[in-house]
Amino acid sequence: MNNNPIGFFDSGVGGTSVWKEVIELLPHENTIYLADSKHAPYGRKSKEEIVRLCIKNTEYLLSQNCKLIAVPCNTATTNAISYLRTHYEVPFIGIEPAIKPAALKSDTRKVGILATRGTLSSKLFNDTQKEFTQYVNTIEIVGTGIVELIEAGKKDTEEMRDLLVGITEPFMISGIDYLVLGCSHYPYIKGMLQELLPTRVHIIDSGAAAARQTLNILKSQNLLNLSSTAGKHFLYSNLQIETLDSLTSEIGNREVSLLDF
Ligand code: DGL
Repeated sequence: MNNNPIGFFDSGVGGTSVWKEVIELLPHENTIYLADSKHAPYGRKSKEEIVRLCIKNTEYLLSQNCKLIAVPCNTATTNAISYLRTHYEVPFIGIEPAIKPAALKSDTRKVGILATRGTLSSKLFNDTQKEFTQYVNTIEIVGTGIVELIEAGKKDTEEMRDLLVGITEPFMISGIDYLVLGCSHYPYIKGMLQELLPTRVHIIDSGAAAARQTLNILKSQNLLNLSSTAGKHFLYSNLQIETLDSLTSEIGNREVSLLDF
């Protein structure tokens, strides 16, 4: 059981930003990553549709004997994680916008949140957000179009820069000092965002916290892989492998393939 892989799924390639944090912290773990790019973006879909896609992805990962399933997708987590935890026995790790650390550290008491419409409209997000609006004002913006460009391999283009100029404008005028990236695709545009925003703005995401949580759950359930060899990684896309391959090219011991799931 301990040598079994950790399963990951996201609406596409974005969750690899979290997957990288996990394999850096847990280098001996084997992993399987599903990029459901055929159905991206999840952020524009209804809750019912997101739950249905999450069930499909979970069933595939369970058929591959995954010992734990990480959902490095804020949209999937905020809409479907409670369903998944109720209906399956395997432990799930979710990822949510890091509002808490930003709210506790903000000096201007203004925090920006960039996420998908599906995340910002979810009950889980709104419950968390309400807890912290007593400390700070939040400025929430939907990152319309960002996921599509990243999926198409266009993260470092002028097209992306032009899109981000418009998207970041409300953050510029509102005086935020923290920006929370509430979508696992967005760490891939962190550099560009940092260039566009004033230097006082700290940009944070939830990848490292999700990796620590994965370690804690594996430890507490005696599921850690105790082997001393490096883990093997199988990454699958159901649309095209080019973007998945190029975003993960620095990682060794991995195979990227097309798979119909
Ligand atoms: N990467 C996902 C997230 O963290 C979903 C993006 C999308 O498919 O809309 O929210």
